[in-house]
Amino acid sequence: MADVVSMKTHLLSQIHDRSAVIGVIGLGYVGLPLAMEFVHAGFRVIGYDVNERVVGQLMAGQSHIQDVPTAQVQAAVATGRFTATAVEARLKECDAISIAVPTPLSKTRDPDMAYVLSAADAIARQAHPGLCVVLESTTYPGTTRELLQPRLEAMGLTVGQDVFVAFSPERVDPGNPVYSTKNTPKVVGGITPACVEIASALYLSCIDSVVPVSSPEAAELVKLLENTFRAVNIGLVNELAIVCDKLGVNVWEVINAAATKPFGFMKFTPGPGIGGHCIPLDPHYLAWKMRTLNYKTRFIDLASEINSAMPEWVVQKVADALNEERKAVRGSRVLVLGVAYKRDIDDVRESPALDVIRLLEERGAHVEFHDPFVQEFREEGHVRKGVELSGEMLAWSDAVVIVTDHLGVDYQRVVDLATLVVDTRNVTAGLTPGRAQVVGLASGSRKVGAVS
Ligand SMILES: NC(=O)c1ccc[n+]([C@@H]2O[C@H](COP(=O)([O-])OP(=O)(O)OC[C@H]3O[C@@H](n4cnc5c(N)ncnc54)[C@H](O)[C@@H]3O)[C@@H](O)[C@H]2O)c1
Repeated sequence: MADVVSMKTHLLSQIHDRSAVIGVIGLGYVGLPLAMEFVHAGFRVIGYDVNERVVGQLMAGQSHIQDVPTAQVQAAVATGRFTATAVEARLKECDAISIAVPTPLSKTRDPDMAYVLSAADAIARQAHPGLCVVLESTTYPGTTRELLQPRLEAMGLTVGQDVFVAFSPERVDPGNPVYSTKNTPKVVGGITPACVEIASALYLSCIDSVVPVSSPEAAELVKLLENTFRAVNIGLVNELAIVCDKLGVNVWEVINAAATKPFGFMKFTPGPGIGGHCIPLDPHYLAWKMRTLNYKTRFIDLASEINSAMPEWVVQKVADALNEERKAVRGSRVLVLGVAYKRDIDDVRESPALDVIRLLEERGAHVEFHDPFVQEFREEGHVRKGVELSGEMLAWSDAVVIVTDHLGVDYQRVVDLATLVVDTRNVTAGLTPGRAQVVGLASGSRKVGAVS
């Protein structure tokens, strides 16, 4: 028992005086901002990533993540306390390690745990007594206890005594100008009370507030609840858009008026579908886990069904609007405006724009795209390059489909120069009527900016 106390006390004091070496596994959207916060807090940080190109770029002082300015990476490298490496053995130097590797879904929508397992195996190979390991990747309840803990114990280490293991979901919202890694409260659930105490101390060293919960499973479920909540509510308003379309009611007017209620209502907006690495995927981690327990998560399944059908709804809107102009989709020229999955970011993962483009092309349209944040993207091995949002391009298009509502785009010019605009985000509401016929996600066609 004396050893347990001294191991814990030793690690806590290392965290307190910043002599602990921190490892971050996976230097992507989540891991790199976190690594920067630890450097900023005064720690020596080893960022381990299997992607040597990313490692090389970071050591050359270049950021590959939009939310982390290159100047911040340069400053971190200049302190001499930040090292990016692809050498697994460097993890041996670490006293605390956060894991931020991808947790995608397989083609059958089952969790793909390969990255987490590979990171856990790497840690186990390099582990030593007095190490704290925190999993941050979004995952199903039970992962920390079932996959991480046994790997460390197989090395002869006792969790809660020699090593300290916790789950702490990353909640970063890329592109959010107000909330970053530092000022978003961090939920922490440990295998034992000592685990949660150490992991909490670790994050409190660089994050404004920590919310301890009683177990890793609770912490794992917190993240899934947050993103399932979003998926379900987006599904609800997407269905409302379809309802409004059939009733001939302005969906935006209904939502905005409902949002004036000062209590009991939270505003969500409809759109062309959901994207990114979180909301389309995370709820399926829970659905999968519950299938193994013979329970069907109906809200998750229903929201997924509605949200994933939205690109088809958008394409039908395009087809109907072209039809009004005596044009077929086949052979039409369509400009997709915005391919990032949400406003003012450069991430196209799971973006509904990709489905919209694919569905339009399947129907024979000639599709180009413009996105101020995405010059090109790769899909199934092919690179697609964007076009300028020129007057010629707008005039060339039989239809412009606004999929992402980036703030910097001159939508008035789009409405003035295009012939037909399908606006899935209501960004043209309130603009001066232009040349274009404007069609909304839930409305008929009209020659005004305001979309219903
Ligand atoms: N992107 C977001 O907005 C966000 C928000 C909250 C939570 N998350 C979750 O955080 C996790 C990470 O997501 P991300 O968006 O940062 O992913 P990402 O793809 O941007 O970055 C992951 C990095 O991990 C590296 N990597 C993969 N396997 C590795 C291994 N075995 N060892 C070392 N490095 C490895 C990759 O090369 C990549 O650089 C996921 O579980 C995701 O669901 C993401």
